[in-house]
Amino acid sequence: MSLLTATRDWIDDRFPLTKMWEDHLSKYYAPKNFNFWYYFGSLALLVFVLQIVTGIFLTMNYKPDASLAFASVEYIMRDVDWGWLIRYMHSTGASLFFVVVYLHMFRGLMYGSYRKPRELVWLMGMFIYLALMAEAFMGYLLPWGQMSYWGAQVIISLFGAIPYIGESLALWVRGDFVIADATLNRFFAFHVIMVPFILAALVVMHIIALHEVGSNNPDGIEIKKNKDKNGIPLDGIPFHPYYSVKDIVGVAVFLMVFSAILFFAPEMGGWFLEKDNFIPADPLKTPQHIVPLWYFTPFYAILRAVPDKFLGVVAMGGAIAVLFVLPWLDRSPVKSIRYKSVIFKVALAIFVVSFVVLGWLGTQPATPVFTNLARLFSVLYFAFFLLMPFYSVMGKTKPVPERVTYHAH
Ligand code: HEM
Repeated sequence: MSLLTATRDWIDDRFPLTKMWEDHLSKYYAPKNFNFWYYFGSLALLVFVLQIVTGIFLTMNYKPDASLAFASVEYIMRDVDWGWLIRYMHSTGASLFFVVVYLHMFRGLMYGSYRKPRELVWLMGMFIYLALMAEAFMGYLLPWGQMSYWGAQVIISLFGAIPYIGESLALWVRGDFVIADATLNRFFAFHVIMVPFILAALVVMHIIALHEVGSNNPDGIEIKKNKDKNGIPLDGIPFHPYYSVKDIVGVAVFLMVFSAILFFAPEMGGWFLEKDNFIPADPLKTPQHIVPLWYFTPFYAILRAVPDKFLGVVAMGGAIAVLFVLPWLDRSPVKSIRYKSVIFKVALAIFVVSFVVLGWLGTQPATPVFTNLARLFSVLYFAFFLLMPFYSVMGKTKPVPERVTYHAH
């Protein structure tokens, strides 16, 4: 017996190392018909690790102090060896995290991955999404630029719209009457330790839940229904080496896109790093347009579409909350968009258009025309979910095959 096997056996007698490797990789049977859309889960994992690693290095030179924060970021950009690269990796990584997660969620929408028996996978995903939004929001305050400051001011003042307790709640969250050093300190603590910790725990739970029930696939067929005499799904292939190798292709392409942005357009024309954030925070000077980063703008547009501030907050919260109940809104007899009715396909297309248009409107000044458009698309956004119990059972679905459709290349 080689030293390596002996060491493995020694560990296995004390810790389920081989068992975990088999359960989650070499003997985890995934459907053989995964397509492009199945890259984004592993890519989300990759970006998460990238954010943690670059974040650790940023923390070594960043100063969470209102009088030093902005200058410490400039110091990282100009004087720290490779500091600019680490900082751009972290800021670009934040935006790409949302790109990847939005595509990952959209895959779930298309193939009905949120439906029984994967409701908890979806719910844990939604908690990840919430935590991710909190993480991005708090991280954005740290450079202490004009947009950091005023963006946080606007969002925290929204708490003030809650009847009775609102103002005290906003004061409690800020730790001061305006965004100040106390706010920066607590946001730093939450951003670097508490939320990443919660995220990591949620991601582990997300994957454990997924591996308990098994992955869905583009046909929306449960591969566990067709097993061979050894109990192995006929349409399943071991995750390792098949999908571990496939995922490396996704990683390679992702890193090319990531590097292209990093080295050629790290600000992405103001979409990944806003222009106003290169100006130090000035509590006495409100910028003309206060706009959150692109991944929040669909919800920001919904907030602004409602004339009453409190109801706007309710609508914005509702737009996220409604995603939590999605598994119980879809009553279609089939899971995947491939076999769903034309009505469902049209509804999904309208939803995607609404989300993108709302995202764009959220970056624009709230003129009367844009506000009315935001109202229209907000209604369409909510209609997709609230009318789903009705339209999902309407129209003609296509027959679902017994086995997954797969064409060898
Ligand atoms: C840090 C963020 C996230 C990470 C690292 C992550 C990771 C993963 C991984 C590795 C998989 C298996 C591979 C795959 O199916 O692509 C997966 C599947 C899944 N994720 Fe996530 N995820 C994240 C966020 C989310 C969010 C925000 C949602 C939805 C709200 C979500 C919903 C799902 C669903 C429904 C599946 C099963 C898909 C299927 O089998 O068709 N995930 N996730």
